[in-house]
Amino acid sequence: MENTIADFRSDTVTRPTKKMLEAMFQASIGDDVLGDDPTVKKLESIASEMFGMEAGLFCPSGTMTNQIAINVHCRPGEELICSPLSHIYNYEGGGVAFNSGVQIRTGGDAFGRIFPDDIHRLVQPEIDVHAAQSRLVVVENTSNKGGGTCLGLPLLKEVESAARSHGLSYHLDGARVFNAMVNSDESPLDYSFFDSISICLSKGLGAPIGSLLLGSKNFISQAKRIRKRFGGGMRQSGYLAAAGIYALENNIQRLVEDNNLAKKIYNHLNQLEFITHIKPVESNIVLFKINSSLNTTDLHNHLLRKGVQVISMDKEWMRIVTHLDITKYHVQSLFDGLSTFS
Ligand SMILES: Cc1ncc(COP(=O)(O)O)c(C=O)c1O
Repeated sequence: MENTIADFRSDTVTRPTKKMLEAMFQASIGDDVLGDDPTVKKLESIASEMFGMEAGLFCPSGTMTNQIAINVHCRPGEELICSPLSHIYNYEGGGVAFNSGVQIRTGGDAFGRIFPDDIHRLVQPEIDVHAAQSRLVVVENTSNKGGGTCLGLPLLKEVESAARSHGLSYHLDGARVFNAMVNSDESPLDYSFFDSISICLSKGLGAPIGSLLLGSKNFISQAKRIRKRFGGGMRQSGYLAAAGIYALENNIQRLVEDNNLAKKIYNHLNQLEFITHIKPVESNIVLFKINSSLNTTDLHNHLLRKGVQVISMDKEWMRIVTHLDITKYHVQSLFDGLSTFS
């Protein structure tokens, strides 16, 4: 059913289209914990082949795929390195510590990028018995809290070399990696240098649920055990996998529209005096701050009265996200709502 509210809170709010629902209805199913759901198997092989990885694992969420990856890469008492803005650090319920007993060391810029120098600076000396051992580097492309930043393949490869020079593994939180790809001439196969990759089907791609963890056969067979331990083994999940297959086959290229619309919104916000900061827009996320004399709750309530929802990232930054359920009428409601706020 079409959403009458202009819901810019997240690209996770999308509803399955009629065609996606039909694909789900028609799915062949089995019991995936017992290993015989053909549609799940098909989704896992489509995604892993797409990224040039040996194997894939269908999981309920991107939080779970990240958490499983960290659990397979690291042992308790070890450390991982990531941006202070990363999802695993801010939005996974302390799961890195709780699930895996792993410490986090952070570095990088205000846009969610991390650089080779950060890795060299943050890595712990192996011979020092006082130090937790560094084991893993995690990057997020695009960076959500960075403002949808696209990290770009050259930087991702430089960070890889830095990580490898210290014997560290390399994980990509690619929840919105397709938003980065459609902006450039990157293809999924270009990302095969990662040890593990998480991609989300339930964000811009429009599926109601699901993420995939990709890696080597050995990595994924360990990940499967951890998925069970974390309570993520699913049974007739072929119905959900069918939505994922539909999303990968139909909804990648159209992400360009979401990215372009976010730029249009950026240009509009740029002209409003009460908006004091906007992070550069590189994909489908617009992060902005309003004048400190104004109240973000007032803006939320004002927009809500106009049928528009946005979200706060923290006390300062507010977020607008574009996605496939946003229509031109929603954009007009947003612009109208903003123009009558002061
Ligand atoms: C960058 C990033 N990684 C991981 C996740 C987690 O995905 P999920 O909501 O499916 O757990 C999100 C969710 O918004 C995200 O933005």
